[in-house]
Amino acid sequence: MPSPRTIELVKATVPALQAHGLALTTHFYDRLFSNEPELKNIFNLGNQAGGQQQQALALAVLAYAQNIENPSALAPVASRIAHKHASIGIRPDHYPIVGRHLLASIREVLGEAATDEIIAAWAEAYGELADVLIAAETELYRASATAPGGWSGWREFVVDRKVRESELITSFYLRPADSGALPPFVPGQFISIVLYIPELGVEQIRQYSLSEAPNTGYFRISVKREGQDPAGAVSNRLHDAVAIGETLRLSPPYGDFYLHEERDTPVVLVSGGVGLTPMVSMLNALAPTTRRAVFVHGARNGRVHALKGHVEQLAADRAHVEHVVFYDAPAADDVAGRDYHFEGIVDLERIRARVELTDADYYLCGPLPFMLKQRDTLLGWGIGRDRIHYEVFGPDQQIAA
Ligand SMILES: Cc1cc2nc3c(=O)[nH]c(=O)nc-3n(C[C@H](O)[C@H](O)[C@H](O)COP(=O)(O)OP(=O)(O)OC[C@H]3O[C@@H](n4cnc5c(N)ncnc54)[C@H](O)[C@@H]3O)c2cc1C
Ligand code: HEM
Repeated sequence: MPSPRTIELVKATVPALQAHGLALTTHFYDRLFSNEPELKNIFNLGNQAGGQQQQALALAVLAYAQNIENPSALAPVASRIAHKHASIGIRPDHYPIVGRHLLASIREVLGEAATDEIIAAWAEAYGELADVLIAAETELYRASATAPGGWSGWREFVVDRKVRESELITSFYLRPADSGALPPFVPGQFISIVLYIPELGVEQIRQYSLSEAPNTGYFRISVKREGQDPAGAVSNRLHDAVAIGETLRLSPPYGDFYLHEERDTPVVLVSGGVGLTPMVSMLNALAPTTRRAVFVHGARNGRVHALKGHVEQLAADRAHVEHVVFYDAPAADDVAGRDYHFEGIVDLERIRARVELTDADYYLCGPLPFMLKQRDTLLGWGIGRDRIHYEVFGPDQQIAA
């Protein structure tokens, strides 16, 4: 626990951080990348361009400053960061480097307000947070390395099959190049992939949720082709340049968004677009059980609706599985084939009787505004936050608030 004086000084800087938080972290990344250019290989340069990562870090720092006396309030944030860091391979010796540049940036941005005493207080506070994250990451690394079939660092996988699931989404079936066993994972978890990007001249790491249930003998990811101007670096390369038989380097599975398999209460899986990937993993794991599962999915139309036939079949064959589809811009052939249930974006109010289930857990994954809307509906029904779980396919910026 930091000293009372440190707590006082750190808390006193919260308003200044709130005013300058984004400037501070933007400054920090400029400093970090000009002094430590090799770190460009581990940071997501797409997020840097969009500003999301700066915001995520700024929010984490603010959250810490606001809760310095009550570190347990930070536990969910710290868990998410630790899982993300572990999937990227952040090491304890990275922390002093980042800390040095963060403190120098605080000094530069706050100018005269940043006295030596304030900087020392922040150094102590940063050290405390670093210790929490390092301890959590060390434990995650240990668990991955010692799990049956587990490993640490990157492991080579061969692309066994590529299956086009929609106009935008393609699945990759990945088998370990060493033909060894695969570790267990919990449906909802993700792996990281590291890929050299020739246009950028650096490696880039991205996370992809496992879209199959565990124990299949392979890992499957389902990747959406992102952006055209500029094209998303890793997703487009996977679609266009990574052929069957090529090898990819993968992290072990991580992530604290997962199906609570120890429960037997109903499950409502609500996804938008490519956010269906962790949900399909969960649904596949639920299919052989008798646990009630409602799979609610929203897509633009049938052309971009991935894995539709698979989920439809599961629902048709099992009384405990239900499938509800929303299209916000149905195509003529969707209308002709009555291929969806509702027109519009996913609106849980319209299906309240089917999804407001006693003791259900709700899993959300999709664009941030999509998840905020679903979360607000669920909170409005009086569903407890502990039963609403969500995954953000990027840095977590605000849904926890
Ligand atoms: C836990 C987790 C699970 C995930 N699971 C999946 C999954 O199952 N399937 C899936 O498809 N994705 C998933 N993602 C998202 C995935 O990790 C990538 O973020 C996604 O594939 C985009 O990466 P990219 O390298 O193709 O795009 P990036 O290069 O990162 O670009 C992302 C966006 O930013 C824009 N951009 C890039 N550079 C610039 C610039 N200089 N100026 C302006 N705009 C720019 C691009 O046009 C694009 O729209 C997941 C993410 C997380 C965190
Ligand atoms: C106390 C110190 C740190 C804090 C508070 C912190 C905070 C964060 C946060 C909030 C995220 C976004 C998580 C998410 O929601 O996805 C993140 C991601 C990340 N962090 Fe840290 N971090 C710290 C230390 C470090 C260090 C030492 C490194 C190593 C150089 C590092 C590298 C990264 C990378 C590469 C990402 C993913 C970025 C991306 O893909 O956009 N972090 N961190």
